[in-house]
Amino acid sequence: MNKRKISCTQLEKFYYYAFPMQAVLVTCKDKDNKTNAITIAWHCPISKKPPLYGISVAPNRYSSDLIKKSKEFVINFLPFDFVEKVNFCGTHSGRNVDKIQQSNLTLIPSKEVTTPSIQESYSILECRLKESISLGDHTFFVGEVVNISSDEDAFLEHVLENKHIQPTFYLGENIYTTIGHSREEF
Ligand SMILES: Cc1cc2nc3c(=O)[nH]c(=O)nc-3n(C[C@H](O)[C@H](O)[C@H](O)COP(=O)(O)O)c2cc1C
Repeated sequence: MNKRKISCTQLEKFYYYAFPMQAVLVTCKDKDNKTNAITIAWHCPISKKPPLYGISVAPNRYSSDLIKKSKEFVINFLPFDFVEKVNFCGTHSGRNVDKIQQSNLTLIPSKEVTTPSIQESYSILECRLKESISLGDHTFFVGEVVNISSDEDAFLEHVLENKHIQPTFYLGENIYTTIGHSREEF
């Protein structure tokens, strides 16, 4: 069988070749308890026991300072219907704009951390900062997941019900997509 030729490309764009990745809104709060939301595509589960989740944040982001100081963050998974708001929070800084107010997102109290969550999410991971690791040009914030909330019909036995929920995926540049309803079960 002929293998399709794969050409070399610019190394500094390596991460484009891992897309699509889910774009999430990470909430964090300042010293006056004002909430900010940053869009993050570089995020991943790290450990089951203890439950650890990581986000990679550039140090010049306003949210980076907030997370370092408050030692908390919340991962909010938004359905594709909210893609415009997800894009807005990834293209504006909380230094200059109240992104929650401008994008009309609804804050709700979290259960285990003092940083609020976003009501429009279909699932929410509340994290307490465990480690901040400076890696290259980003800081990898490792959070211990201390609470999970999700919409009742979003998951069945922890598996996403993709006939009900359309997650928000990022393809790079200003392009987003979602998944269809098809699935294979083995
Ligand atoms: C879809 C998307 C994904 C993004 N992913 C990341 C990311 O993983 N890490 C990061 O540091 N910035 C990421 N950004 C950029 C920040 O969201 C953006 O710089 C934001 O304005 C920072 O907000 P802040 O200054 O309020 O923290 C992403 C932007 C978009 C649009």
